[in-house]
Amino acid sequence: MEPRKTLIITGGAGFIGSHLVRLMVEKYPDYHIINLDKLTYAGNLANLKDVQDRPNYTFIKADICDFDVVKEILVSNHVDGIIHLAAESHVDRSIKDPFLFARTNVMGTLSLLQAAREYWEPQGWEDKRFHHVSTDEVYGALEISRPEGDPAGNERGGGPYGDDFFTETTRYSPHSPYSAAKASSDHFVRAYHDTYGMPVVVTNCSNNYGPYQFPEKLIPLFINNIIHRKPLPVYGRGENVRDWLYVEDHARAIDLVFHEGVSGETYNIGGFNEWKNIDLVRLLVKTTDRLLGRSEGADEDLITYVTDRKGHDLRYAIDSTKLKEELGWQPSLQFEEGIEKTVRWYLDNQEWLQGVTSGDYLKYYAEMYNGL
Ligand code: NAD
Ligand code: DAU
Repeated sequence: MEPRKTLIITGGAGFIGSHLVRLMVEKYPDYHIINLDKLTYAGNLANLKDVQDRPNYTFIKADICDFDVVKEILVSNHVDGIIHLAAESHVDRSIKDPFLFARTNVMGTLSLLQAAREYWEPQGWEDKRFHHVSTDEVYGALEISRPEGDPAGNERGGGPYGDDFFTETTRYSPHSPYSAAKASSDHFVRAYHDTYGMPVVVTNCSNNYGPYQFPEKLIPLFINNIIHRKPLPVYGRGENVRDWLYVEDHARAIDLVFHEGVSGETYNIGGFNEWKNIDLVRLLVKTTDRLLGRSEGADEDLITYVTDRKGHDLRYAIDSTKLKEELGWQPSLQFEEGIEKTVRWYLDNQEWLQGVTSGDYLKYYAEMYNGL
């Protein structure tokens, strides 16, 4: 039987991509879901063990920058939709190697767009869609106007640390090579819509957390370090604010926007859940200690303030009202519940953690934190 739709999900072996692949494979048995991934250090097929044998799932190892290969994959599989997540995603790595971020995030996106255009345009754009998964970091950084935080901020229609948010019309102002490359890719996607008429949607999401996140990002890195009683390198004074969303809620939002979003539109995704880094780290220590049977908070002495990240964005806070009002999306989890679930997952999956924190990663980590 012919599949009702054939979708390529790029970067499906990464953190968010693997949750999206799982959701789509399970929810749409009549779709053919192709996971196209280069398997860089961040891509891991172990993230998808539970769905790898499903008849509606195929993995293809390929580089999005390889235009001819990508076009051949689109043509030979009769692909009618692309959800594009493949990217270099870690800000600290972008500071060390900006060229790699321009190659993958800008040129890779352009190569994918052009391959899709060359395949789709002659057939007509009907039933075709390119969904670009982007980040709130393209909007730059917000000020902190209430450093102590006001828990009632959200009820007043603002946030705990300030009343302003990133909306879909906030001017782009990226600061890191990572966010500059993502911003550039967003512009190319919109240019393909405006110039050639390609049906596109763009989503800009806040910080994700949950299972299968590579342990170079704050939450899994710190859980792993607490387990092994290693220092927790907090940048600067830990005063930066991030807006956290459980990864499965992001995957649900992508599914919704891909199917129901208006072509040419942008949707912000976030859970109105701002946390100051140091408060989040203390919550992580408490939760991990408790679940390990240690005295709660005992490992706070692992907190080590280190040199700040260059160009470190002060505060992110996303306004996702449009997504809620137009498409009915809401986050499903309270943060404390999500963090407990997440810590539990890393504790139960230490083999996965060990698998990805050996070899080259150890060298990278030692260089990054001067041997901490
Ligand atoms: P990740 O680093 O965990 O995964 C990236 C995936 O892309 C990996 O599987 C990797 O192998 C693959 N990849 C990298 N270069 C490739 C190439 N040239 N060709 C094919 N595949 C390649 O990233 P993530 O955190 O899951 O983020 C996924 C997407 O979501 C990114 O576009 C990122 O900018 C965006 N995003 C992430 C967050 C977050 O908090 N993690 C928030 C908002 C948006
Ligand atoms: O906002 C969305 C973005 O969130 C995504 O687009 C990125 O792909 C994703 O990596 C994430 O970027 P951040 O830079 O916010 O995430 P990270 O986990 O690297 O850092 C979160 C905060 O914690 C940030 O303020 C820096 C700080 N931090 C991070 C690390 C790794 C530390 O203090 N110490 C650390 O060791």
